[in-house]
Amino acid sequence: MKIFVTRTIPEVGLAMLREKGYEIDISPKNRPLTKRELIKFLKKKPYDAVVTTLSDEIDEKVVAVAPNVKIFSNYAVGFNNFDLKAIGDKNIFATNTPGTSDESVAEHAVSLMLAVAHRIVEGDQFVRDGKYTGWDPMLLTGFDLRGLTLGLVGAGAIGKHVAAICKNGFGMNIVYFDIARNEEIEKNLGARFATDINQLLSEADVVSLHTPLCPSTEHLLNAEHFAKMKKTAILINTSRGPVVDEKALLEALKNGTIRAAGIDVYEKEPEITRGLTKLDNVVLTPHTASATQIARDGMSKIAASNVIAALEGQVPPNVVK
Ligand code: GLV
Ligand code: GLV
Repeated sequence: MKIFVTRTIPEVGLAMLREKGYEIDISPKNRPLTKRELIKFLKKKPYDAVVTTLSDEIDEKVVAVAPNVKIFSNYAVGFNNFDLKAIGDKNIFATNTPGTSDESVAEHAVSLMLAVAHRIVEGDQFVRDGKYTGWDPMLLTGFDLRGLTLGLVGAGAIGKHVAAICKNGFGMNIVYFDIARNEEIEKNLGARFATDINQLLSEADVVSLHTPLCPSTEHLLNAEHFAKMKKTAILINTSRGPVVDEKALLEALKNGTIRAAGIDVYEKEPEITRGLTKLDNVVLTPHTASATQIARDGMSKIAASNVIAALEGQVPPNVVK
């Protein structure tokens, strides 16, 4: 069996594939492949499986040049890079890596909340710039998370961890919006269900996004929505960039429509809307919310398990279609 891996991933999963005696080719380019490059690689050998990352768009053209492929195993929880129809038409499995990065992403979301509230990044820069000349009663005043209201958009596996940390750690009130009720967080954390997103936006001091990207969540937050948020509110996005209209976010942060933001994902990443990096009231991380050793090793193992199952004629555990 031949496997193409589009990007180096943690060894633990690759070792599982090697143990099976599979022939593994890893892209030698240490960067995302262009569509053209991916197609070129796939034409080289009759691969049986492809391990992809979230920047590999798997569409009709890619599927067409890989007639032997039985599975596209995404090394990511999100799978918006898959054209499920194109993959589905050919009876090929598409899988993701749920379950191992939920805590990591949740901790990252909360880190961004704290970094914004306590102005950690501005403080760090201030010290590095040699501006710290002594304790100052008025310097870099931020705000407390304690007692604030968290507005959770998406209360799935990641969202529920964020809710638990915020409730148990900071005594925050939780209001959430989702397509389905989450009885667990209602019962255990006293979370309230918002019947529409505007209700949530008008109440929340911290809005944190935890939805997948799909047509119904694209630009889920736009200029109109920012206008409905409190002027003192902050936005945290560790989901997918296109869930937020990034230009509208820039304007909202510039004009004081909202107070601040903590952002890990970008609408056209790695490009960032011009001007965003110039603002002090936003903390930016490079899509690293799941970048902990435990999460990434777990993702590697799951991506490999999915491949092994498919190549052994079973239905992989994490089929997304
Ligand atoms: C990361 O963004 C993932 O989807 O796992
Ligand atoms: C601050 O360092 C304080 O002691 O209040």
